[in-house]
Order: sequence, then structure tokens, then C-alpha cells
Amino acid sequence: MDRLLSLLFLLLFILHLPRRSHQQHISSIDRAALLSIKRTLDDIPGSNFFSTWDFTAPDPCATFSGLTCSPDPYSSALRVTALQLGTGLSDSLGLLGSLSPHLSNLTELTQLVLFPGIVTGPIPPELGLLKNLRVISLTNNRLTGPIPQSLASLPNLHTLDVSYNQLTGSIPAELTELPQMKVLILASNQLTGELPSGWTQLLHLDLKMNGFAGRIPSNLPSTLRYLSLSKNRMWGPLNGLEKLSELVLLDISMNSFNGTIPSSLFRPSLNSMLLQRNKLSGAIPPGPADESYGPGSVIDLSHNFLTGELPATLVGVENLFLNNNHLIGKVPEEYVKRVFSGTTKTLYLQHNYITEFPMEEGLNLPDSVSLCLSYNCMVPPVGLSACPASAGGQLSRPAFQCAVFNNGTTMA
Ligand SMILES: *[C@@H]1O[C@H](CO)[C@@H](O)[C@H](O)[C@H]1NC(C)=O
Ligand SMILES: *[C@@H]1O[C@H](CO)[C@@H](O)[C@H](O)[C@H]1NC(C)=O
Ligand SMILES: *[C@@H]1O[C@H](CO)[C@@H](O)[C@H](O)[C@H]1NC(C)=O
Repeated sequence: MDRLLSLLFLLLFILHLPRRSHQQHISSIDRAALLSIKRTLDDIPGSNFFSTWDFTAPDPCATFSGLTCSPDPYSSALRVTALQLGTGLSDSLGLLGSLSPHLSNLTELTQLVLFPGIVTGPIPPELGLLKNLRVISLTNNRLTGPIPQSLASLPNLHTLDVSYNQLTGSIPAELTELPQMKVLILASNQLTGELPSGWTQLLHLDLKMNGFAGRIPSNLPSTLRYLSLSKNRMWGPLNGLEKLSELVLLDISMNSFNGTIPSSLFRPSLNSMLLQRNKLSGAIPPGPADESYGPGSVIDLSHNFLTGELPATLVGVENLFLNNNHLIGKVPEEYVKRVFSGTTKTLYLQHNYITEFPMEEGLNLPDSVSLCLSYNCMVPPVGLSACPASAGGQLSRPAFQCAVFNNGTTMA
């Protein structure tokens, strides 16, 4: 028993030995790769990320900032497994230069992060050789050119964030089908084309502020919790969103989507729904009667062509934007109560055809509430409207417009 124990201890000791030993150095391939990476990148004057990158020092893994190393299972050398270029501190200016293709010599790399700076040039297609890569984050720089097709062959890629660059071209075929991909953030580039038709089990898809065209793919993954397609050139009906039952945030604002809003989207678990500035029409469907929206909820349906009356089910929404539509009728009393109790923080109803906002005399609007009622088919209660400048100065809509809209008919 004793012998067994001491053998075990010896084994543990041996297993721990390389990690502790000062004999262990970075592999010569990784050292050469770091030297190449350093050659094409530099600190923006005032930033000092590279001040620790002294290649005369014996052990880069211990002294270079931004490196994480692990022992190579096949040799006694240390390999770079994570590389963070730049400090990511908010007061740091970041790096300039370009990304070296020699990054691909860091074959054990699982994470590559480039913090915000002004790095230019392409994303090296050679990154597609790093089969262990799980995370690539290169946001807020000035990278140009396409997203390399080679990235679509990284079997372990979990997160790709190349947002806020100047990338062009379309989404590479099969990138959205990678088996491990969960987070894909391509926001704010100059990407074009239609969205792919093959999708893996993504949790987070952010394509906002690009030039994507076409319809919403019918087979977006039902695992999605966050979906933003805001500010693109997409159009067509909202089909395909109904079955995304895990969504917490949906932002498809500022496109040209048309048709009606599926009633299944009105559920309190979908806490932020931004559909503003599209061409949506029809009535706002009643949501589920048994659940209600709560603190933190935002629904923005403004600047569409929605008709009918306000449904009772949106009553608990904390920030509700229904302005610039074709809504008619009387505002349900429950909305009015919530506004004066301060549980509704924003209620924008301006630029509709609403005929009544039923309230008792002498109530004061809490300071925290934004209520705007101007340019409807009524005279808004004196002193209550807290409108944005964009609402314009006119309190009421011209009477002849109101006659058409509140006469049992609505404009087609
Ligand atoms: C490093 O990468 C470059 C370009 O990919 C390649 O030409 C070179 O042979 C590599 N060096 C080593 C030591 O593997
Ligand atoms: C949506 O827009 C397309 C293209 O302009 C049009 O063909 C289609 O009829 C519209 N659908 C609805 C429901 O308005
Ligand atoms: C309703 O519409 C009809 C026909 O368009 C019109 O003659 C009538 O005056 C309208 N009624 C009201 C109350 O505006």
C-alpha cells in the first residue's frame, strides 16, 4: 500500500515537473512566429502593449503580455495557446499595422484576440490552418477584404467576431454550418449578398449595419437567443421568425420588411423587439393573455404602416414605441394607469390617428416618464406630452385626415 502511494506521488511529481521547470521554453516555431507577428504590428504612439515583447528574454511565455502557453504533449516545449494582441483597456489606443500570415505557425492556438485599434489589411486566410481555433475576435479595427473562405474549415470554431471593420464580400459558404459555431458577429462592415441557407445551432447572430439583401432565411436555427439584422437592405415577410422560441432580443429595424407581424413574436420572454422603420402592416396582434411584460422590456414598432387599435397585451412593456403608424381608437385605460404610476417609462404614440387618451384631471406625469401624444386625432392633455424634437410642433393632426381614418375604414 505504502509503495503504491509513493509510486503515485512520484507519478504526480513527474507529471507536474515540466510545468514548473525552468528548463521548459517556448517552441522555436512559436518564437519565430511571434517575431513575424511583431514585425507587422506596432503600438499606436501612447499605447505600450509591445513593451514586454523583448526577444532577448529567455522565456516569452513568462514575460510577454498577451500570451498564454501550455506544454506541448509531444515535446518538452511550451506552445502558445492563446494570443491577445493589445490590452483591451479602455484608455489604450491599440495597435496599428497588419496581421501576419505567420500567425498560422502557432498551430496550438485556440484563441486569437485583436483588441480595438487601427490595424489594416486583410484577415490572413492562413488562419484556416489553425484547426484548434475556438475563438477569433478581431473587432473595431480597419481590416479590409473578405472573410476568408478558409475559416469555414475550422472544425472547432465557436466564436467569430469581426465586427466594426471594413470587410467586404459575402458570408463564406458553410461558415454558418460549422458544427461548433455558437456566436457569429459580423456587425458594421460592408458585407453584401443574401444570407446563407445552411445553419448550425447558433445562439447569437449579429449582422447589423451591413449591406445584406434578400429575405429572412426560412431555416434560421431555433436555438437563437440574439438576432440582429438591423440596418441592412432586407425585405419580404417575417416568416421564419415564429419558430425562434428562445429569442430574447430581436432587432430587424431599418430594413424593408413588409407584411404582418406574426403574433407568436409577442411574448414577454422576447424582451427586446425592435421592428421599427420597416414597411410592416396590419393590426398589432394580441399577445398571450396569461403573461405580461415586465421591467426592462422594449418594443419598438414605430415608423411602419400598422393599423387598428392598441392591444391590451402590450400594457406592461416598459418602453413602448408605436409612433408613426396608422393606429386608431382610444388608448386602453390600463396604459394610462401605468404611465402615471411610472411603471411604463416610455409611451410614444405620436403621428397616429388616435382619438382619446382617457385620464383624470390634475394628474402629474412622473419625471422619469416620456409620453408623447402629439399629431393624433385629438388635442393632447395640456402640459403632459414629453415629445422628442422629431415629433414636430403640431399638437393635432388636420381634421380631414382624421375623418378618413376613424370612419370604420383604414387605409389599405
Ligand atoms: C511559418 O509560416 C510561414 C508562412 O505560413 C512558412 O513559410 C514557414 O515555413 C513557417 N515556419 C516554420 C518554422 O514552420
Ligand atoms: C412585400 O414587398 C414585395 C416586394 O416589394 C411585394 O411583392 C409584396 O407583395 C409585399 N407584400 C406585402 C404583404 O405587402
Ligand atoms: C365616413 O365616411 C363617409 C364616406 O367616406 C363620409 O361620407 C362620412 O362623412 C364619414 N363620417 C365621418 C364621421 O367622418
